[in-house]
Amino acid sequence: MNQTIPENAREWIAVLDYGSQYTQLIARRIREMSVYSEIVGCGTTAEDLRRNPPMGVILSGGPNSVFEEDAPTVDPEIFEMGVPVLGICYGMQLMSQRLGGKVVPGAEREYGKMPIEVMPGNPLFDGVPSTITVWMSHGDRVEAIPANFERGAVSATCPFAAMFDNARRLYALQFHPEVVHSQYGSRILENFVRRICGCSGSWDLGNWVDATIRRLREQIGEDEVVLGLSGGVDSSVVAVLLNRAIGRRLHCIYVDNGLGRYREPEQVEEMFRKNIGLDLTVARAAPRFYAALKGVDEPEAKRKIIGRLFIDVFAEEARRFKDCRYLAQGTIYPDVIESRSPRKGPSQTIKSHHNVGGLPDDLKFELVEPLRELFKDEVRAVGRVMGMADELLDRQPFPGPGLGVRILGEVTEEKVKILQLADLRVQEEVRKLPDYKTIWQTFAVLLPCRSVGVMGDQRTYEYTCAIRSVNSIDAMTADWTRLPYDTLTRMSNRIINEVRGINRVVYDISSKPPATIEWE
Ligand code: XMP
Repeated sequence: MNQTIPENAREWIAVLDYGSQYTQLIARRIREMSVYSEIVGCGTTAEDLRRNPPMGVILSGGPNSVFEEDAPTVDPEIFEMGVPVLGICYGMQLMSQRLGGKVVPGAEREYGKMPIEVMPGNPLFDGVPSTITVWMSHGDRVEAIPANFERGAVSATCPFAAMFDNARRLYALQFHPEVVHSQYGSRILENFVRRICGCSGSWDLGNWVDATIRRLREQIGEDEVVLGLSGGVDSSVVAVLLNRAIGRRLHCIYVDNGLGRYREPEQVEEMFRKNIGLDLTVARAAPRFYAALKGVDEPEAKRKIIGRLFIDVFAEEARRFKDCRYLAQGTIYPDVIESRSPRKGPSQTIKSHHNVGGLPDDLKFELVEPLRELFKDEVRAVGRVMGMADELLDRQPFPGPGLGVRILGEVTEEKVKILQLADLRVQEEVRKLPDYKTIWQTFAVLLPCRSVGVMGDQRTYEYTCAIRSVNSIDAMTADWTRLPYDTLTRMSNRIINEVRGINRVVYDISSKPPATIEWE
């Protein structure tokens, strides 16, 4: 078990991950209650947990059926540890099966919102009305509960939509309280975390910043650190944290690949060198990237070239700091979970994502990853606690290969300039929307086709620009944003009137899947 429990999180809730798409949400909901929660592998044993005992354990949902031969299971000793356990969906079926209840395969999946009737006497449902609508997503169901358990709730199809044993403090729900569609879901989780497990809620990001700076000073001592700064939220927050911890013993490298947003290198220099006083090296490598991309139009080939060249340029710069012991990275919690999730099996490469990949062998740094335990919104909150500008913290995600995957076909310097100017208009207009922060990403894409237009009395024959805007929770799925017509009109008018080279704007109304967010 590779835990990263921060030193100021004395109370924590362990979430055993059985692979549900909602597992991350459970941990997030708990952290929103100022209680630290961490997701651990479903193979975690009672002995593992005793090393740093949690105040409670949650068994998440998952895609398996307990009847499958190698379905993931649970160490039964976890039920004997004396800490409260909450099983959710697959977690409930597992609890029931391990403790002597009866699970039966469902004839068909029950999926969606369902009304349930809640029984009295269960502290999990304190303050919850007797009938609520909850989110169900299961095939199997519990047909008979284990000895000493009581029925907690019932639905039209589930005789046991919840069950509990107050004496042993074991609780289980067939539905998903972590999903917003479950009425009183947060209340139910809060009852578990605060009332049943007795957590006081002392997890606080202000404390986290102080504790992390102390921890970084201890870890790094008198050594020096190199950091690849991308201009995105995560690496920027790492830079500011490390700057507070070790000042100019932090050396930042920004690779200008010529594929960034409009004036991005200048802004990075202004903000980090001038305003914050970081030791920042800007590697001006745009011409090398344009040269390497000349004549290449296949998306994966472009991604690979950009990724490899990025490593080369970064490594060349980093060699000047060869004596530094550490390399800092903006790895965040979802990256950590993603890389060890039981779901992660052999899957097809849709797109080869690139961030800082493997460095050459002569560069042997130890890693410093101060954001490893934080979710994205917590990273933003940390930035705010440290006084960083909202403009930077509220930035939408930007892919490593940048505009290289938003210029379809061959990338040239001329096309980059056109797209930067179009994208600037898109960013300016979308930021005016009151619900800007709820939108995952909005950007412009330059299509390789030209069409005929008319400007004044002149015929034009220029590029088409597509606007893409999506709402998403985790980028795994996404729905196209219903941007107001007025906003779209202003974007279109401004791009066509103010950006030379584009005479037509279209709006992308495809969702993911089957489309992806980026076009390449
Ligand atoms: P797709 O296009 O796969 O994108 O639906 C999902 C999310 O990932 C971002 N993206 C990347 N992020 N390096 C990154 O750090 C990459 O190479 C990369 N490619 C896509 C994309 O912007 C979206 O948010």
